[in-house]
Amino acid sequence: MSPKPRPNPDSPNSSHVSPAQAADLQQRAIAVAHHAYAPYSNFRVGAAVLLTDGTIVTGCNVENASYRLTVCAEQAAIAAAVSFRGPGIRIRAIAVANLNDTASQPCGACRQTIHEFSSPDTIVFFPGEKGAIAQATIAELLPAAFLLSNS
Ligand code: THU
Repeated sequence: MSPKPRPNPDSPNSSHVSPAQAADLQQRAIAVAHHAYAPYSNFRVGAAVLLTDGTIVTGCNVENASYRLTVCAEQAAIAAAVSFRGPGIRIRAIAVANLNDTASQPCGACRQTIHEFSSPDTIVFFPGEKGAIAQATIAELLPAAFLLSNS
């Protein structure tokens, strides 16, 4: 009997993310967090998105004196990914990091934004307790996403 086929971790369409890819995403999220414009909260956030075609795109939070106009890092990265690769992008994984050594999960709005371009098993890496890197699927983070009933 032939062995059961396993997902190829090198395949760009596999939902698997190798430890090396996860570490790379994490490093890029930290690097781009240094570009954050966060004079109001001093909470500098970076996000690195791995698309299913293997492309990695990053973004950081950009605040505004009118606080509610702030753009989160995840949203900035995803907007950049759409601008770069077009409306058909799909996210395999996204890493979020901050420079404040704080456990922090993606906000609700960012979960909805990630969900828009994800499959249920898209992986989200985020800062956990005591410097650990936590991970969850987008389906776990947002089990009841808003969907337009006619879309
Ligand atoms: N922020 C993000 O960039 N991503 C999140 O998921 C949560 C919050 C930013 C927004 C604001 O600039 C700062 O963190 C503090 O809320």
